Amino acid sequence: MFRPLRIALVAAGAVAILAALGWIGHAWWESRLPGMYNVMAHGTLDRGGGPVGAHTAHEQGGQSVDSLREPATGRPDVRFTLTARHASVQLASGRTADVLTYDGRVPGPELRARQGDLVEVTLVNEDVDRGVTIHWHGVDVPNAEDGVAGVTQDAVRPGESYTYRFRAKQVGTFWYHTHQFSSKDVRRGLFGAFVIEPRGNQRSVYDRVVMVHSVGGRQAVNLADGVERRVVAPGTPVRLRIVNAENTPRQLAVGGAPFRLVAVDGTDLHEPGELSRTILELAAGGRYDLVLTMPDNPVELSVLHTDARLVLSRDGQAAGTTAPAQGRELDLLTYGTPTGTPFDAGSRFDRTFRLDVGRKFGFVDGRPGRQWTINGKVFPAMPVFFVRRGDLVKVTITNDSGAVHPMHLHGHHMLVLSRNGVPSSGSPWWSDTLNVKDGERYEVAFRADNPGLWMNHCHNLAHAAQGLTMHVAYEGASTPFTVGGRAGNRPE
Ligand code: C2O
Ligand code: CU
Repeated sequence: MFRPLRIALVAAGAVAILAALGWIGHAWWESRLPGMYNVMAHGTLDRGGGPVGAHTAHEQGGQSVDSLREPATGRPDVRFTLTARHASVQLASGRTADVLTYDGRVPGPELRARQGDLVEVTLVNEDVDRGVTIHWHGVDVPNAEDGVAGVTQDAVRPGESYTYRFRAKQVGTFWYHTHQFSSKDVRRGLFGAFVIEPRGNQRSVYDRVVMVHSVGGRQAVNLADGVERRVVAPGTPVRLRIVNAENTPRQLAVGGAPFRLVAVDGTDLHEPGELSRTILELAAGGRYDLVLTMPDNPVELSVLHTDARLVLSRDGQAAGTTAPAQGRELDLLTYGTPTGTPFDAGSRFDRTFRLDVGRKFGFVDGRPGRQWTINGKVFPAMPVFFVRRGDLVKVTITNDSGAVHPMHLHGHHMLVLSRNGVPSSGSPWWSDTLNVKDGERYEVAFRADNPGLWMNHCHNLAHAAQGLTMHVAYEGASTPFTVGGRAGNRPE
C-alpha cells in the first residue's frame, strides 16, 4: 500500500547520502596540495582597507624576495659556521638521545654578536636528508636572510651550504632554528640561541642563556635534562635570557631573590618593577630576560610542572628548592611604565586586518579533521595581508579555537595595543611571538618597514604544520621559490 512512498523515501535518502559523499569527496579532492606550489598562489588577498598596489605579487615588475638582502660587500664583524648533522648526545642524566644538531649539540652553539655587527653565518648540511635552513627568530633581517624554505630560499640539501648575512640592528635575546620540516626537526634539535649584546656591555655581569626545550622526551634547560647548577658569587649582577623552544607555553618561577623582567622578545621594557612570588608564562618561541643581584643564598629558576631548573649558588652545589610553585601571574599589559612609542592606539592606520583563529571540520591536503582556520578559511586558502612599505598596520587577533596559539610574525615587531578591549597601560610591549589564549582578543600594530614576503604563523609548530600559517606580502614582492618541487621545500 505505502510502497511507492517507501521507495520514494529510500530513493531520497540514497540521493542525500550520495550528495553528501560527493561533497566530501570533492572537498577531499580539492584540498590536496600540488607537489609544487608558490605560497602566493592559494591565499586570499586581503588589503585591510588600504589602497590596491600598482601591481600585486602575482603581476610583473615586482621585487623578488631573493634580492632583498644585505649588500654582499663589506667584511663581516662576526662569522660563524654551523654544520647540521645527526648525532647521539648524552644528557646530564646519563641517557642518550638521537638528535639532529647544529655542530653536534643540542641546543646548537650559542651565537653572540654586538649591536651594529655585520653577521655572517654559513650553514653546512652534512647529512640531514630532508634539508635544513636557519631562521633568525625575532631578528628583523632582510627578507632573503629569513631562512624559510620554499619562501625565501631552497632547503639546503646534504652536501650543500648557504650563507646568511645581516646587520645586527636590534639588541636582545633571539634564537635560531631550521624552517624546513620545522615541526619535526626543531623538536629533534635544530635550534640554538642568538644574542645581540649592546656595545660597551659590562663584562662583570653573569649573563646566561636558559634554553627551555625537550630532548629525548625529557624537559631540559640548556644541556641538563634536570637540574643545571652554576657557580655565581654573591653580589654579582645576573642576567638570565630565557628562550622557550617548546611548542607550548612554559610557566617559570624564580626563588631566592627578587628580580625584574627587563626584556620581552628581545625588546627592553620601560621601568620594569621588582618582582617576587610571581609566575611568568612564556610563549612558545618567546623570550624573557630577567635580572637580579646574586644574594648569599642559592637562586633557582624553575620550569613549573617539570623537573627542569637552573640553580645558581656560591659553590655550585646547592640542591635548590626555593622557587615558589605558585604565585600571581605577571601581566605584561600593566607591567612597567608607559613611555613614547613611534605610534599608538590613537594613530591613523593605513591598513586594518583581522586575524580570527578558529576551528572547523574540513580537509587539509586530503587529511580530514577539525582544522585550524583563519577568518574561517583552512590552509592553504588563508588570507594574505597585503601591505605597502611604510604602512602603519593594525591587526586584531582573536582566538575561538579552544587552544592557545603563540602567533609569530616574521621580520617585524608588533606593539600590543590592547587585550580584550583593555588598553596596554604598562611599558610598551613589543612582541614577535604573542601568546593568544582561547577566548582572547589582542589588538597589535606594526610598521611595514621591511619589504618582502613574511610568514605569520602559530609557533606551536605542530599547529603550523596542520595549516595555521599565513603570510604578510608587500606590494610587488614575489618569490622564485616553491613549496615542494626539486628542493623538497616544506617550511612547516
Ligand atoms: Cu620561529 Cu616561522 O618561526
Ligand atoms: Cu597554534
